[in-house]
Amino acid sequence: MCNKASSNPNRVVLPTNVTPSHYNLTITPDFKEFTFDGYVEIDLSIHEPTKTVQINAKDLTLKSTSIETAGNTHEPVSTTHDEHHDTTTFTFEHELAKGSAVLRISFVGILSDKMAGFYRSSYKDAEGNTKYMGVTQFEATDARRAFPCWDEPAAKATYTIALVVDTDLVALSNMPVESITAVESDKKTVHFEKTPIMSTYLVAWAIGEFEYIETTTTKLEKPVTCRVYTLPGLKEQGRFALEITPKILEYFSEIFGTAYPLPKLDHLAVPDFDAGAMENWGLVTYRTVALLFDEKTSDLRFKEQVAGTVAHEIAHQWFGNLVTMEWWDHLWLNEGFATWVGTLAVDHLFPAWDTWSTFVVDDMQRGISLDSLRSSHPIEVPVADPHEIHQIFDAISYSKGASVIRMLSNWLTVDVFLAGIRRYLKKHEYENATTDDLWNALSEESKVDVREFMNTWTRVIGIPILNVTEADGIVTVEQHRFLSTNDVKAEEDETVWWVPLGVHPKPASIVDPNQTLKTRSLSFEVPEGAYLFNKHYGGVFRTNYPPSAISRIGKAILDGSDLVGLSDRAGLIADIASLSKSGHTATSNLLDLVQYFKNEETYVVWELLAGRVGEIASIFADDERVNQGIKHFQRNLVDRMVNKLGWEFPEGEDYLTSRLRNVILRSAGRAGHEATVAEAKRRFALFVSDPAHDSILHPSIRQTAFEIVLSQGGEEEFRHVLKYFHAAPKQDQQVIALLALGFVQQPELIAEVQALAISESVRPQDIFYVLAGLSANPASRRSTWEWVKANWTTLANRYKSSMSMLGACVKYPLSQSSDVSLIKEVKEFFADKDTKDFQRALDQALEGLDVNSAWLQREQEGLSEWLSVNKY
Ligand code: BES
Ligand code: ZN
Repeated sequence: MCNKASSNPNRVVLPTNVTPSHYNLTITPDFKEFTFDGYVEIDLSIHEPTKTVQINAKDLTLKSTSIETAGNTHEPVSTTHDEHHDTTTFTFEHELAKGSAVLRISFVGILSDKMAGFYRSSYKDAEGNTKYMGVTQFEATDARRAFPCWDEPAAKATYTIALVVDTDLVALSNMPVESITAVESDKKTVHFEKTPIMSTYLVAWAIGEFEYIETTTTKLEKPVTCRVYTLPGLKEQGRFALEITPKILEYFSEIFGTAYPLPKLDHLAVPDFDAGAMENWGLVTYRTVALLFDEKTSDLRFKEQVAGTVAHEIAHQWFGNLVTMEWWDHLWLNEGFATWVGTLAVDHLFPAWDTWSTFVVDDMQRGISLDSLRSSHPIEVPVADPHEIHQIFDAISYSKGASVIRMLSNWLTVDVFLAGIRRYLKKHEYENATTDDLWNALSEESKVDVREFMNTWTRVIGIPILNVTEADGIVTVEQHRFLSTNDVKAEEDETVWWVPLGVHPKPASIVDPNQTLKTRSLSFEVPEGAYLFNKHYGGVFRTNYPPSAISRIGKAILDGSDLVGLSDRAGLIADIASLSKSGHTATSNLLDLVQYFKNEETYVVWELLAGRVGEIASIFADDERVNQGIKHFQRNLVDRMVNKLGWEFPEGEDYLTSRLRNVILRSAGRAGHEATVAEAKRRFALFVSDPAHDSILHPSIRQTAFEIVLSQGGEEEFRHVLKYFHAAPKQDQQVIALLALGFVQQPELIAEVQALAISESVRPQDIFYVLAGLSANPASRRSTWEWVKANWTTLANRYKSSMSMLGACVKYPLSQSSDVSLIKEVKEFFADKDTKDFQRALDQALEGLDVNSAWLQREQEGLSEWLSVNKY
C-alpha cells in the first residue's frame, strides 16, 4: 500500500501498530447548543501486541472509550491528549493481542462557525430569521474535529454513517440513503450505505433545509444520479452546474478508463465556505458563487468559474479519491492534475471559451511568478507536520503543478499521457500513490524516462530563464535560474532543467522532435525571418530575446502572421513584462512592444496588455510623473477598443468578447479615460435612480462600472454601492460590490470599507474580496496595511483555523506596494508574533515588496524620460 520506504522520518504520523478498516459512525447535531454528540465503532487490526492505541482528535470531549478484542472488553486505564499533535493515546492495563478489535468511543464536539470540521453555516429565511445548516470540511486534517480517527490519507477505511436529525431536515453524506428510522416523533435517523475504502479527509455529511434538482448520466453502464442541493429558493441557480455534471462524469469515465464508482454525485452550495470547493467523494461542497449561477443576473465570468470548479472537483473523484496521495508531500499530484484535467474538460465542453489560452495568462503566470521568488518552494515539498499542509495549497501546487503537467502531456502527446494515467489509476485504485508511481506508469506507457524529465520541474525550486543571443548568424540560448530580484547567486543557479525549447520554425540542426535542451546552452543557425521560442507557451520558463529577434516577431505580429498565435502573443507580453519588472530588460521595452499590438482584438492578449501596463501605473503610483504618464499611455492604448466595444452586450455575443469589454473598460476607467468615466457615471446614475433601469448596467459590467464611479466619485456613489451590497439577494452580486467598494478615495470612506470587512454584514469567507479592492487602490493600500495591524488580534482569532485567509490579510495590502520602508515595518510588527501558520505568505509578501521597490527605484528616471520623449 503506502510506500513508507521513501517517507520522511520527521513526519508527524500515528504509530502503525494499529490500523482501522471500518468506521461505524453516528452523529447527532444540536443546532441550539451548537454541539454534536457522536458515537463511533472502529474495526481495527492490531498488528503487534500493544498496550496503547493512538488516534487523532481535536476539540472533542471523549465521554467513554472501550476496546473489544477476542470477546473481551477493556477500558483504558489512562487517556492522554497532545494538543499540539491532535493525538489522544489510550493506555490499557494489559497488552491487546494481535488480531482484530473494535474500538468504541462516545464523544461530544463543537458545531463551530469556523468553516472547519463539522461546522454550522448561517442564512436568513424568507422572514429574515437567522437559520443554520451543518456541513463538514475535513481536508486537510479536520476530520479529527468531527470524530476520533486515523486522520491520514494513507489510513484508508470504509464508513457507514448515520445522522440523527429533525424529521423536516435533509441529511446528506457520501453515499445514498439506505434507510430512515424514527427515533422520536420529531427526530429521524438517516442511515447511509457503506462507502468504498477511502481517506478520512474525503468523508462528508450535511444537514439542512435543502432542496434539489436532479438528472442522470446517459452514457454510463451504471447510471449515476446527479443532484444540485441548495438552501430553499436557490435550486434553479444550480441548473448550469447540473447540466454539465453528467457530461463531465461521462468524459472523465472515458478518458480515465474507469467508470465513476459511486451510484450518485451531489453538489451542495454552502453559504459559509473557506475554500472554493471540496471534492468529498459523492458529496462535493462549494462556496455559493462557485456553484450557483443565474443567466439573468450573474456576471458571465461566474459561469466559467462554475464550470472550472465543477470539472476540477469531479476530476478529484478519480484523481485523489479513487487513488489518493500517500502523504501531503504529494498534494500537488491531486491539485496540479485536477487543475490540468479540469481545464481539459472545460475546453472539451466549451471550445469557444478558449480555456487553454486563459490558462496561459492566468494559472501559468501565477505559478511562474510565485516560483520566481526565493520564498517559493519545490512542487514536491516535504511536509513533516500536518500544520504545514495548508501553506502549500498555493500557486505552486495548483498552477505550476498544472503547468508542468501540461508541458509533460505535450512532450508525451496528450493521448500517450492519458494512456499512462489510465494505467496509473488501474494500478493504484482504492490505494495510495506517490509522484514516482505516476512517473512509473507514464514511463511504462511511453517508454521514455519521464522521471528524468520531470525531476527538475517538481523537485527543485524555481524556473529557468532562457537568455537568447544572436551573433555571426548563430543563435545561442543559455538557461539560468530566474529570480524576480535579479540577483541569483552561483550556488542557486546549478540546476539544468530539461527544457522543451519549442523553437518555431524548427531549426534543421535540432534533431530531437521534442527539442529538449538538457544542457546549459545550445546554438543553432539564425533562421530567416522571425522565430519563436516556447511555441504555444507550452514550456514553463521565461524567454529573454535580443532586440533584433523581438523586432522580427513584432513585425510578424503586425503582419498577422500565423507564426505568432494567441498564446504566443500573450506569452511574449507576459515574459517581457516580467523581465522588465525584474530588471532583466528596461521597462520601456515593454512599452515599445505594445506598438506591435495595434490590431489586437483578443481577450487574453488584452488582459495582459491592459494588466501589465496597469501594473506599472499601480506600482509607480507614488511617482506622480510616471503614474500620470503611464495613465496617458494607457488611455491611448485602449481608446480604439473602447470605441469598438461600447457598453452594451448584444444578444448572443460570444463569451470572450464580453470578457474583453470588461478588461478594456476597466483599464480605461483606471486610467481616467474621459469618455469611459462619463459613460460609467451616466449609466450608474440611471441605474440607481430607478430599478426599471436595471439593464443599463449589464451584470457583466456592473463591477467595472461601480469601480469607476467609486474611484472618481464621492460619498453619494459610495452609499449607493453599499446599499446595493446590503440589498443584493445573491452572493455573486455581493461579491462584485465588495470587490468594487475598495476603490473609494476619501479617507473616511476608506475607513468605512475597512470596518465593513470585519463587520456582521460581510461573511468571514468574503474578506479577501474587500481586501483585493482596497489593495489595488493606491489611495487605500497603505492605510489598509495599518488597519490589518490595528486589527491583528481580531483577524488572527477569526481565521486561526482557516486555510489561507490570514496569509491573504498580510499578502494583499502589501502586494502592490513599492514603499521600501514597509519591509522593516512589517518585520518589526511580526517580530513578537507567532507566524508559523502563514510564514510562507509573509516571506512572499516581503520579497514582493523588495521586487516592487527595486523596480520603482531602478526605473523612475528611465520611464519618465521615455514618457517625455514619446509625449505622454
Ligand atoms: N481540495 C481542494 C479544496 C481544499 C483547498 C481543501 C484547500 C482544503 C484546503 C479543492 O479541490 C480545490 O482545489 N478547490 C479550489 C477550487 C478549484 C477550482 C481550483 C479552491 O477551493 O480554491
Ligand atoms: Zn482541488
